[in-house]
Amino acid sequence: MAVATADKLTKSALDHVWIHSATWQNLAEEKGMKVFDRGEGARLYDVYGKEYLDGIAGLWVVNAGHGRAEIGEAMKEQAARLAYVSAGNYTTVPAVALGEAIADLLPGDLDRVFFCSGGSEAVESAMKIAKQVQAMRGFPRRYKIIARRGSYHGMTFGAMSLTSIRAEKYFGPFMAGVYHVPSPNNYRAQFPGLEGEADEIACANAFEKEIEFQDPETVAAIIAEPISTANGVQIPGKAYWKRLREICDKHGVLLIADEVINGWGRTGTYFAMEQYDVVPDIMTMAKGLSSGYAPIAGAAVRSEIYEPFKDHKDVSLGHLLTFGGQAVAAAAALKNIEIFKEEDLPAQSRDKGEYLMRQLKELEAHPAVGQVRGLGLMAGVELVKNKETKDKFAKDSKFVKRVDELMNEKGMLTRVWDIIHVAPPFVVTHDELDRMVTIIDDSLTQAEQEFGDEIES
Ligand SMILES: Cc1ncc(COP(=O)(O)O)c(C=O)c1O
Repeated sequence: MAVATADKLTKSALDHVWIHSATWQNLAEEKGMKVFDRGEGARLYDVYGKEYLDGIAGLWVVNAGHGRAEIGEAMKEQAARLAYVSAGNYTTVPAVALGEAIADLLPGDLDRVFFCSGGSEAVESAMKIAKQVQAMRGFPRRYKIIARRGSYHGMTFGAMSLTSIRAEKYFGPFMAGVYHVPSPNNYRAQFPGLEGEADEIACANAFEKEIEFQDPETVAAIIAEPISTANGVQIPGKAYWKRLREICDKHGVLLIADEVINGWGRTGTYFAMEQYDVVPDIMTMAKGLSSGYAPIAGAAVRSEIYEPFKDHKDVSLGHLLTFGGQAVAAAAALKNIEIFKEEDLPAQSRDKGEYLMRQLKELEAHPAVGQVRGLGLMAGVELVKNKETKDKFAKDSKFVKRVDELMNEKGMLTRVWDIIHVAPPFVVTHDELDRMVTIIDDSLTQAEQEFGDEIES
């Protein structure tokens, strides 16, 4: 593309497109507005033709990789045939096939999907399903939801209420009946004197204490990501999730697993809950379901969750989203799943994740790297200013900002906060993974030289 055209597009983006969550300072002065033109596998090209390694698959989305023309073909065919019918009354051929394909892959007796368009909607749907099903089972006072501190469940109002970092000053008060408990963290124990599994079990028991404190007869559900990305890629042991299942069963509370990031192969299996041998009552999914080729998401439920709607034949779920299961989006997701199966993408995530982890672990030699952890192609490099105290860098740290800048300059896109996330598309090559690790390594080395005064280790 000619430079003049690229300049015009960039200016127009600054004038007319509201980039989610980016600050004006960032867009207009620092990193600059980036307009992308095309992608291929794990690589992206901006309008100036500069190549970037996509170190975070968009936002943990493009699991099957960029530039999959066959998904485009499937969407084109479906759009020409039928794009939309009322989600309130009907469904379409690709949406039926998608429901079946997902049910086949879901663990346990999760077998029905409420389709929607994104992760936040999936969480809203899960919450409303939990509340209405509790009421229909004869517990109309069970409306409370317990989530975890540090977790992220989305930005629509209900989902944001569950998200514990939630800009109180602009949007509070939040949805009533939401409570938060500690989240397991194998780098910084949550309970004094405890560590490892004992600390994780204490975190699980915190759910039970909160349920008992609130009165179990008022609690509809608890929600958690199997492996919390927002908490810095925290991977609890099996005992934690088994305990959550036990607590929910004991108190009649529904268990919601938020697999919006974890699902669709990110942790090395189709769903992270498979690795915990625990079947949640409701599971949310989004992102990798279509690898980002179309906005489609869902809340999957166990058969018994839908039972009340068969018993009370004249009652429907009080929830209708116009674009739920839209036919072109469903066709995109179906083709994506076909590719997942043909290329065994979850196994690629698992194997390449192991390869990546071996190299990333070497970064722990850096004075500013506290811990490297991950599962499948979902890894995080945690930055700390002091390895002994595990103190984090200040929010306005020049060191962290510089690492981010350098990685950008060297051609790798990802999110750099307390954690440098490494979560590329599963089709990433070993060579591209090597280049990503080198970019992180070199950026850390250079930033450590320039802003070493911030580092206490
Ligand atoms: C665990 C989890 N739940 C929900 C969401 C919200 O998804 P969306 O941004 O598609 O609304 C996210 C987004 O990253 C997420 O990580």
